[in-house]
Formats: sequence, C-alpha cells, structure tokens
Amino acid sequence: MKRIQIINGPNLNLLGKREPSVYGNQSFESYLEELKTRFPEIELSYFQSNVEGELVNKLQEVGFDVEGIIMNAGAYTHTSIAIADAIRSITAPVIEVHISNVYQRESYRHQSYLSAVCKGCIIGFGLDSYRLAIESFL
Ligand code: DQA
Repeated sequence: MKRIQIINGPNLNLLGKREPSVYGNQSFESYLEELKTRFPEIELSYFQSNVEGELVNKLQEVGFDVEGIIMNAGAYTHTSIAIADAIRSITAPVIEVHISNVYQRESYRHQSYLSAVCKGCIIGFGLDSYRLAIESFL
C-alpha cells in the first residue's frame, strides 16, 4: 500500500472557520475523510502544527519511509529556510500545495522558499489542490 503523508502548517487547523471567502467552509478533518474514501488504496496520514520546528521534525520522521509528502506550510512557505533544508535532506518527494492562488494575493506571498526544492507545486484549486497532489503520486 502506498503511504502518503499530508503535512499542514500554521493556521490550517482553522480551515472552515478561517477567512472562509479565501479558504472555504470545510474543515480539513471533514475533507480528509472524503480523501480517505476516494483513495482506499492509499495509506493517508495527516499531521498539522503551528510550530515551525515540529514541521521540520515531521519531515525528518517520515521523509525516508513514505512514498510521497504533500505539504502546505502556510505562511512558513514564504519565510522558512529550515523547512526548505529539511525537504532537501529527505528522500521522499514533496509536493507544495496551496489552497488559495497565492499569486493573486499580496506580493509577500509570491515568494516561496519551498518551490525550488519540491517535486512540483499545486496552487489555487481550493481544497481540491490536495486531491490533485495525491493523483500526481498515482
Ligand atoms: C496558504 C497561503 C499562504 O500564503 C497562507 O499564509 C496560508 C495558506 C494557502 O493554502 O493558500 O496560511 O498556504
């Protein structure tokens, strides 16, 4: 069975409540159930943290074992050299995901430290971005 790890960064625990006009009305927990139903052949694990170092720890913990990682690092996308270095250090391919189209938003969201070290990026398709990222591993 293929193992795929989803990692969400800061404030993504508030999906469904947080700026619904940007991020939608659905919680990630409820969306995750939909993904698990849709991809029964995949062992899908989920981790969320608001703490940068915990995201680095998780990448190191699973990054030599799983077949793929789907990462939405939230605002750390635009600031974190530590997360970029962790992605460089592991063997699992990482797909960078964003719910919103960051290029339609503030210019400080146009820079990503992660894109260059990720296998690919899926940006701006709402929660469906995660499904598309899973499809890319199939
Ligand atoms: C986000 C975009 C980031 O700029 C923002 O800080 C987030 C969410 C997205 O999924 O659209 O927290 O990563």
